Amino acid sequence: VIMGKNIGIGILGLGHVGKGTLDIINKNQFFIEQEISPNKIKIVGLADLDINRKPKSEKYNTVFTTSAQQVIDHPEAQIIVEAIGGEYPAYNLIKKALEAGKHVVTPNKEVVAKHGYELLRIAHQNQVQFLFETSVGSAIPILGVISNILTSCPLDEISGILNGTTNYILDLMFEQNITQQEALIKAQEMGYAEADPSKDVMGIDALYKIFILSSLGFRTRLTLDKIHYSGITNIEHEDIELTKKLGYRIKLLAIAKKKGDCLDIRVEPMLVDQNNFLTNIHGADNGIILYGESYGELFFSGAGAGGIAGGSMIVSDIVRIVRQPQYFEHDYLLQDSEGLQVQSFDEEENSYFVRIQQQTKQVGSDKIEKILEQNELLVEKFAKTNSKNNELNIGILTALLKEDKLKKVINGIEKQSKEIKILNFMKRYKNSSK
Ligand SMILES: NC(=O)c1ccc[n+]([C@@H]2O[C@H](COP(=O)([O-])OP(=O)(O)OC[C@H]3O[C@@H](n4cnc5c(N)ncnc54)[C@H](OP(=O)(O)O)[C@@H]3O)[C@@H](O)[C@H]2O)c1
Repeated sequence: VIMGKNIGIGILGLGHVGKGTLDIINKNQFFIEQEISPNKIKIVGLADLDINRKPKSEKYNTVFTTSAQQVIDHPEAQIIVEAIGGEYPAYNLIKKALEAGKHVVTPNKEVVAKHGYELLRIAHQNQVQFLFETSVGSAIPILGVISNILTSCPLDEISGILNGTTNYILDLMFEQNITQQEALIKAQEMGYAEADPSKDVMGIDALYKIFILSSLGFRTRLTLDKIHYSGITNIEHEDIELTKKLGYRIKLLAIAKKKGDCLDIRVEPMLVDQNNFLTNIHGADNGIILYGESYGELFFSGAGAGGIAGGSMIVSDIVRIVRQPQYFEHDYLLQDSEGLQVQSFDEEENSYFVRIQQQTKQVGSDKIEKILEQNELLVEKFAKTNSKNNELNIGILTALLKEDKLKKVINGIEKQSKEIKILNFMKRYKNSSK
């Protein structure tokens, strides 16, 4: 597709990201046009179902419509920004735009994770680009780095905090000693959580992102269903209190590790020690660690959400397209077969946090220690909370062991004593490079 001197842009959805994109183009037009010289940017269509989103300025309100299809069909529209979100109708609109020979840029991780391979194939067939830098890490240019810069050696590990909402909630629970429900309400009041936060708190948003990162990072097709994920819904403030006493923070991590032809990819809450880079990713920020043999550990952090942060990477994708409209970097994703196998590395030993609740205080924590010893659970560190009622909460950090063995021990302990309940357990995070 040959691009004209005036690059026609159409934006579908003028919410946070769509509006952010428009604001950036408006504010930085001179700079952006220097980057794509001698080309110029021209907004030829803006669509939103909500008429109240119609821009005030005359320059833009004449190109506003409530019909996304109309923007796609605009003869001058060469690049379509899909910023509606959700699976449908976003997927159909992207597909139609690509089939009509228009480049597409999107922040929509759900569509990319569920339909990305098909959409890339359609883009390739129509000799246009389908770019989605904003879909992971918002303002952090991680997909570009992974795809275009880290081309000297394979990646071995990707770890990150990829969901700002849950990171914000866990931070509030840690700092203010409040329940998850209270933290969620505060996060919603501050605009850091949606009215329906289920995709965030259940780990689904992070799942989409680690899927995209892994597919590009390890240069392989993957199946979304094979990836293990869990969110933060079962984390109670006692877990936060006990792990704090043990010297850790709980973070919702997304981790992908490669060994030979296998990948272990998972999203789950883990204990991160106070000195780790990821512990210091606060609020709605995102943080990512990449590890590859020749470049060692690389750290990235930045705004994981926000219309302007997201819009900034949408515009970067637009610039990339104008500079290299024919360039296709994902040949490996066009094959039908999966490359690497996803499986959990069960043979790995980890240290675990285990929260034990004693139903009655009379029993005393020395009895618990004895039971743990009888069940051959080696304890590295031990902490307890001062409970308000009769229950006593104890948190232990185990020595290294396999998860299978831990589950057997937990079973054994619960059978042995009715006074003891195991309420939660989580892995301690360790970098593969260390
Ligand atoms: N917000 C962020 O910080 C951020 C960062 C990175 C990535 N993302 C991703 O970016 C995407 C958009 O998120 P957002 O936060 O910008 O969403 P948003 O604020 O809800 O904006 C979406 C807009 O699209 C409009 N819309 C819905 N259906 C439409 C249709 N058929 N045609 C035209 N417009 C339609 C909505 O109108 P109504 O309100 O009338 O429905 C709304 O104004 C999502 O995939 C999200 O995951 C967001």
